[in-house]
Parts: sequence; structure tokens; C-alpha cells
Amino acid sequence: MGAVSARLPVFPWDKLEPYKATASAHPDGIVDLSVGTPVDPVPALIQKALVEAADSPGYPTVWGTTELRDALTGWVGRRLGAVGVGHRNVLPVVGSKELVAWLPTQLGLGAGDKVAYPRLAYPTYEVGARLCGAEPVVYDDPTELDPAGLKLLWLNSPSNPTGRVLAKDELVRIVAWAREHGVLVFSDECYLELGWEAEPVSVLHPDVCGGTYEGVVAVHSLSKRSNLAGYRAAFLAGDEAVLGELLQIRKHGGMMTAAPVQAATVAALGDDAHVQEQRARYAARRTALRDALVKHGFRIEHSEASLYLWATRDEGCWETVDYLAGLGILVAPGDFYGEAGERFVRVAFTATDERVEAAVKRLGQPFARTGSE
Ligand SMILES: Cc1ncc(COP(=O)(O)O)c(C=O)c1O
Repeated sequence: MGAVSARLPVFPWDKLEPYKATASAHPDGIVDLSVGTPVDPVPALIQKALVEAADSPGYPTVWGTTELRDALTGWVGRRLGAVGVGHRNVLPVVGSKELVAWLPTQLGLGAGDKVAYPRLAYPTYEVGARLCGAEPVVYDDPTELDPAGLKLLWLNSPSNPTGRVLAKDELVRIVAWAREHGVLVFSDECYLELGWEAEPVSVLHPDVCGGTYEGVVAVHSLSKRSNLAGYRAAFLAGDEAVLGELLQIRKHGGMMTAAPVQAATVAALGDDAHVQEQRARYAARRTALRDALVKHGFRIEHSEASLYLWATRDEGCWETVDYLAGLGILVAPGDFYGEAGERFVRVAFTATDERVEAAVKRLGQPFARTGSE
């Protein structure tokens, strides 16, 4: 049997283990700011919807319930400003990571095709290209890419790891270029609700896509906005021809979102209050960590949105990881996201107020609690 895993990059998190051990030895315990995993409770109204749908003996459908599709189209119109989005323009997925990893395969891409993604990026875009045997290509500006053989272009605004937001006019330029060259755009917008010093815009906004979804699909996830990483709730919205094809394939593949999770998603997308509450928690943690890092001698770049601070002490990232581990703080080295990140670290603010306060203290600054715990 040929090992498919041999095509994939080394799973990088294992390299962090020794630093985790160092940080864990701190007398007041580790502050883990390495993985961007939510730590606050799942909002009560979402838990309630999940529990009420617990008696779900039958198979769910891949396309989802009518209520779910109504919730998806409603949210896309209300929150993203998209116009004329119908049920054929949406498709639930089982968390967005599986979609990112398997999309190129499901699109039928393979040897001779190219999949492009930002030079500094969430590693699963590359994994997706490698799983189907396509060539992974990185870009600084996608419109400078050679379009020959380029089948899929990933955008990610706000960005993981840098927190950078693409301005509306940049999106307009990129979508126009991609359409001109027949390149399919998938825009990973899972941090769209988490803009701090910028207002992220979706590719589905009529100013960007011109009100038609040809060649454009947005990827949205409830993991970050609603603390639902454990539920695996995400969806696609955009080009109906592309989504129709994916629906057929995913039906054959049994890629169904669990029925209680579908019900929970409906509740989550119908409520903005919990998103505002969660944003307030993150905003306080972000400000505290940012100020503490800057006063400690770090420089922060981008980071105008998302759940991360992209920070440097103008040294190799592993030196910074080692230094902070000595203070009991674990962060992700920038080279996990591409060579261009080798002098940065990614500091997630997905830790409890209590842990963020501990980190700030260790960096030498007080922390004003939000009272949210
Ligand atoms: C840019 C980006 N896309 C996709 C995902 C996957 O999120 P999920 O599978 O929880 O929807 C993540 C998770 O951190 C991410 O950072």
C-alpha cells in the first residue's frame, strides 16, 4: 500500500512538546496560547437546541434541513450583505477543516493542477493540495500568479496566522482577476466576525462579487464565532454549480452534519448577542496581551482581526518560543505557517481571563478582568 501520509508535511505540533514541558513546569502552571481553540462555554441557547434535537434516530441529509438552509441563507444575507442567496447557494460541512483538506480531491483536482494559498497560511490548504496530488503554490499577491494550471485559489481574510484583513478593493481586484482567468476562488472567512481594527468584508458582498456568485465560494465556520469547535459546524455559500457538484460527491461520501448539530447551528446563526459577548471577552484579552507584549519589547504586525497576535522580537521564532516557555507561556512558532514566519510567533488569545491574567503578570503588566468567567 502506498502511504498517502508520506505526501504530507510533518505534523508540526509534535515539535512544540519539549517547550510545552518547560512551560508546564512553571510554579503557577502553563499559559497555553499556542492553539486557537475556544475555551469559553457553548452559549446556553445553542446547548438547548442541541439537547432538544438529541432524539434524532434517522439519517440526516448532507444538504441539511430546510430550517438549516433557511438559517444559512438568512445569515449570509443579513451578516455578509449577500443578495439573492437561495438554498442552492449553501452547503453545510462537518467543520471547515475537513472541507479545506478534501476540497481539491472533491473537485477532481490532481497531478498537473495547482492550488494556491497565501505565503503565510493555515497549513491545511497545503495538505489539501498534497492529498490529491496537485501542486501547492504560495503567493504574496494572487494576481501575480501564473494562471496556467491554477484551478483553486484560497483567500483567507482575516488571516490565520497574521490577522491581516484584505481591503474591499483588494478583494474586488482579486475576484476580477480570478474570473478573467477561470480560477475558482474559495474564501476562508472563518474569522470574519472577529475584526478589531478593521471591518472584514466577504467575497459574497455585492461590491466584491457584483451580486453574482460565479466562481466564488465563501467558507464559514461556527467554531470561533460561537465557541462550537467541538460541534463541527461550518458551511459554504456561493456558486451553485460548484456547490451542486460538491453536494453530489458528499452525498456519496456520507459527509453529513449530525442532526443535533444542524439544529444547534440554526439557533447559533439566529442570535448575535452571544457573538457580541464573546467578542467582548476576546477584545479584553487581546488588549491586555498586546499591551503586555509591546511593553515587553515585542513588535506586533497586522493582527487587526482574528484570534491571534503576530509578534516578533526580531529573532528566530524558536528562540522566542523558548524564551516565553521559560516564562510558562506557550506560543506557536511562525514557521508552522510558512518559512516567511520564521522570525514571528503566533499568540492566541483563546485562553481564560485567569490564564491571560497570569501571562500578563509574567510579562510584567496588570490585567483588567471582563468579569465574564
Ligand atoms: C483559517 C482557518 N480555516 C479553517 C479552520 C478550521 O476550523 P473548523 O474546522 O473548526 O471549522 C481554522 C481553524 O483554526 C482556521 O484557522
